[in-house]
Amino acid sequence: MASSDRPAKRSKMENGGGSSAAAPPGPPPSKPVHSAAKENPYLSHLPPEQRFTRGDAEGSERGAGPLANGRSGNPLDGFIPRQVVGSQVRSVMEGGINPFSITPTPFSKKYKDILNKRKELPVYAQMDEFYEKFQESQTMVMIGETGSGKTTQIPQFVAYSDLPQTRKVKGPDGVLAPRMIACTQPRRVAAMSVAKRVAEEMDVSLGKEVGYTIRFEDATDRRTTFLKYMTDGMLLREAMNDHNLERYSCIILDEAHERTLATDILMGLLKEITARRKDLKLIVMSATLDALKFQKYFNDAPLLRVPGRTFPVETFYTQEPEPDYLEAAIRTVLMIHQAEDPGDILVFLTGEEEIEDACRKIKAEADDLASKSPDLCGPLKVVPLYSSLPPAQQQRIFEPAPAALYEGGPPGRKVVISTNIAETSLTIDGIVYVVDPGFSKQKVYNPRIRVESLLVSPISKASAQQRAGRAGRTRPGKCFRLYTEKDFISELIEQTYPEILRSNLANTVLELKKLGVDNLVTFDYMDPPAPETIMRALELLNYLGAFDDEGNLTPLGEIMAEFPLDPQLSKMLIVSPEFRCSNEILTIAAMLSVPNVFLRPNFAKQQADAARAEFAHPDGDHLTLLNVYHAYKTNCPDPSTGSNWCWQNYLSHRSLIQADNVRSQLQRTMERFDLDLVSTDFSSKDYYTNIQRALTCGFFMQVAHKEGGSKGSYTTIKDNQIVSPHPSSCLSHSPEYLLYHEFVLTTRNYVRTITDVRLEWLVEYAPAYYNTMNMEGEIKRQIMALEQRKGKKDKKKKDTQG
Ligand SMILES: Nc1ncnc2c1ncn2[C@@H]1O[C@H](COP(=O)(O)OP(=O)(O)O)[C@@H](O)[C@H]1O
Ligand SMILES: [Mg+2]
Repeated sequence: MASSDRPAKRSKMENGGGSSAAAPPGPPPSKPVHSAAKENPYLSHLPPEQRFTRGDAEGSERGAGPLANGRSGNPLDGFIPRQVVGSQVRSVMEGGINPFSITPTPFSKKYKDILNKRKELPVYAQMDEFYEKFQESQTMVMIGETGSGKTTQIPQFVAYSDLPQTRKVKGPDGVLAPRMIACTQPRRVAAMSVAKRVAEEMDVSLGKEVGYTIRFEDATDRRTTFLKYMTDGMLLREAMNDHNLERYSCIILDEAHERTLATDILMGLLKEITARRKDLKLIVMSATLDALKFQKYFNDAPLLRVPGRTFPVETFYTQEPEPDYLEAAIRTVLMIHQAEDPGDILVFLTGEEEIEDACRKIKAEADDLASKSPDLCGPLKVVPLYSSLPPAQQQRIFEPAPAALYEGGPPGRKVVISTNIAETSLTIDGIVYVVDPGFSKQKVYNPRIRVESLLVSPISKASAQQRAGRAGRTRPGKCFRLYTEKDFISELIEQTYPEILRSNLANTVLELKKLGVDNLVTFDYMDPPAPETIMRALELLNYLGAFDDEGNLTPLGEIMAEFPLDPQLSKMLIVSPEFRCSNEILTIAAMLSVPNVFLRPNFAKQQADAARAEFAHPDGDHLTLLNVYHAYKTNCPDPSTGSNWCWQNYLSHRSLIQADNVRSQLQRTMERFDLDLVSTDFSSKDYYTNIQRALTCGFFMQVAHKEGGSKGSYTTIKDNQIVSPHPSSCLSHSPEYLLYHEFVLTTRNYVRTITDVRLEWLVEYAPAYYNTMNMEGEIKRQIMALEQRKGKKDKKKKDTQG
């Protein structure tokens, strides 16, 4: 990666139109020129009299700003794409008219208020430097402390430079759309929350000019959206059908330090795409100091470093390891509340259940304290934050701390209890105290037994430092680590391993093929995955029929890649019309793609279990999910009024609404590929077994076999892991074979969401996998016996016919 590989520094082909032939002759100036009424080389496709742009925005003659700007009154007159400088931009920002709303309108009062806050962000002070670097290089790396304004401000800066709203391109369907700016986020919550914030900052409507796209939810408008926040996974999916990402003028890969699977693949792809498309700009943003690795990877891309403006954070450790971190976290919050100066608290926990539990306990104790000694303890507002929380509730983290209960009384405090989201993705102002138990939920993959799980695992030193940093945003803070200093030094790894090294890659390998990457081994990964993991993925995709024996995508594989689902689920959907159950399989696929629909609150476990039993299907949980969905649709024809029924039945209304939405989106994909939506007659004895057959076609590699005679003990086929059905299962008996959706690693191994399947289906629908050559022991004997019986039957049939 010698620096000579870099694109010529001043090749000014970045004219956004994509056609380098239209570039003007002669070297363009390295700095924008602002003489008035200058011929604009970027308008060379227009007749000569239209090639002039008006003078610069520097200097005060623009006075009140845009409206004083003469002719058209558009504040952006005089802006030459990608030759914009900070002073021009600041002048429009301070002006009266919003150039980004669909029809230019005066800025609102709220806009001005927020602008004043934006001006205080460290990134804002570096606007001039940003434009210099942005213009002179195709790819740049940017690092800055969490909260410095990267995610919210940089895409807006780019908008002033790329003017995406004015430079529209025709899509394949003839629709004229802005050539967009994309900003990727590893987390759905961050994409939604930041898009909403930026729409407010820009004084435009969310979903119109500024939007977001996450899996199963698209809040953008093809014709008007020019700035799009999206999950990294969604951009990857778009690249599958648009190999050059032609719809974009600039891609911002945010939170690159998180090294998610999708971001890593995008980095490799964008390295190739930027070599092909010189007009495409790429900005890689990260919150850690490890910028060199990114710079090196992108052929020595220049770096913009936003100086942090953080205050010192004092770190405390426990003397002894804490046996119960949840209990210790709650205790620490209450201690801070009673003993420390005003300032909000941020607690890191690992998941929804734990967080809700902690919220309840802290709230109860704090209320008690406040009522017992109102002169010592102010009111405490406890706010949860995790990804499946509805957007309106997520916004609560930005609400201010409660006021004192009475004048002169102790001030109120806000405590946010969050997953890793708050580590770098979302910035919460006003945090002074951080409580860090040292754990997060992390994906782990063991290719040997083909099991991927989310496990509560110790965080890395880098994460611990990020967490501590959250306390010093507005003034000096304190971080309480609920582990010993010795453990911090000797037990925590330096950096979290990139996700690509700890994931099942089946989906990724399918996507890469669809992205046109032929050689999976020579692809330019920042950190290459283990060969065994790639082998496992290829093997699965080959058994599913997505890849042929040479490792090429089959027509079936092409369609599978179009579904935003794991390959097993897409396979089961695609074959379902053959079993006349595509309507039902569609429902099951949707129900499996949303958070658990069954609620089981601590205070009503028995009632919840009884409610669930009402929906139970004796043959398993997949069919139970189908029953739940049917009951929901029958009882709640209008989703907006369904919450009562759901609550009475201990079902999550939110998950069911989401399932309904996911279902219609998957249905659209089915229709796009002419996959029929059909059902077996409900009175037919095959109604349920047809569904089980279709399930088998997708999940035949996730089957467990009953161990000996003991009830409730199973071993997984091929990998021989001992597992038990999850206690939440509705399966009423212990079938010889059961198909599972999920392998849960805890102190015991469980299989969750399970359904009864028969060996003859496995042999019939997955003959390459279930044959005597591929299997051993008891399974092999059973397959042989099955074949013998079948042979006899066939012979008998022949004899009677003959
Ligand atoms: N939804 C929101 N409501 C209020 N303020 C917000 C919201 N989102 C972001 N901010 C503000 O924007 C600032 C910059 O955040 P951000 O751009 O996400 O920083 P970075 O990406 O560098 O971590 C934060 O300090 C916060 O005050
Ligand atoms: Mg950010």
